[in-house]
Amino acid sequence: MTRSEDQLRLDIVEVGRRLWTRGFVASNDGNISVRLPGDRLLMTPTSVSKGFMSPEMMVITDMDGRLLSGEPGRKASSEILMHLVAYRHRPDVHAVVHAHPPLSTGFAVAGIPLDRAVLAEVVTTLGSIPIAEYGTPSTPELPAAVEPYVKTHDALLLANHGALALGRDLFAAYYKMETIEHFARISLVARLLGREHLLSREEVGRLQELRGTYGIASPAPVCVDDPPAGVDPSCQVVVAPSSPGERLVLDTAFLADVADGQVPVGNGGEIQLTYGQLTTLIEDAVRHLTARTTA
Ligand code: 13P
Repeated sequence: MTRSEDQLRLDIVEVGRRLWTRGFVASNDGNISVRLPGDRLLMTPTSVSKGFMSPEMMVITDMDGRLLSGEPGRKASSEILMHLVAYRHRPDVHAVVHAHPPLSTGFAVAGIPLDRAVLAEVVTTLGSIPIAEYGTPSTPELPAAVEPYVKTHDALLLANHGALALGRDLFAAYYKMETIEHFARISLVARLLGREHLLSREEVGRLQELRGTYGIASPAPVCVDDPPAGVDPSCQVVVAPSSPGERLVLDTAFLADVADGQVPVGNGGEIQLTYGQLTTLIEDAVRHLTARTTA
């Protein structure tokens, strides 16, 4: 059932309220848009708190960003070009949500993509959440930075800025934003605990098959090999080690970092490890010893 323009205005107000209530935006952060029939866009106006909007505040533009209607003095969001690039490349997308959720934006600031095969549901629904290069907000740099990713991803981080979610309707886009932030929260906790088990490449393959079973329409398949640098991603790159006999694989990247001297070294040259990291090292050594003695 298609929603009327009046209903879509109410939906944008509700999604803005949820973004603000969950702390995904502060001050005037974030913006929301939905496609309207007749090649038009219904969008949040610039410079308002997204937590306290009313339906009549929304503006309507054409698909080149020209203002068609709105209350006197209202202008479209300063990030309209970023929204438009998503709609241009993705006819299946009918809504775009941009926010600055603190945990996922923390990953975007640290330059750490959410691209590891850690949670089955995230692999199935979003694949990976890459980071688009930094572009100055509200300038054409930002749409240029997201352009390579929106073709193949429904969720991405914006370096040193925030997150972007695309959906077939407004609530689908909003729920993807919730998933991005939830995934960032869980990833942060696992890393603070000092270890991460990854889903094996083979399990990722099984999860990808579930997309068909659940009717999840994804813009691109999951792939586990790194694409050549500098080329638009043609698939959703997920970090998942091959391990035909196992579904979960303890990530040994941390152990490799120890060997490379990448682990933080404190004053006096002592190595500082969390309890979890130390446990991982010991368990890995025991596993190697056991494998050698039973071989
Ligand atoms: P607008 O208020 O212009 O939509 O900008 C908010 C924002 O988050 C910019 O990135």
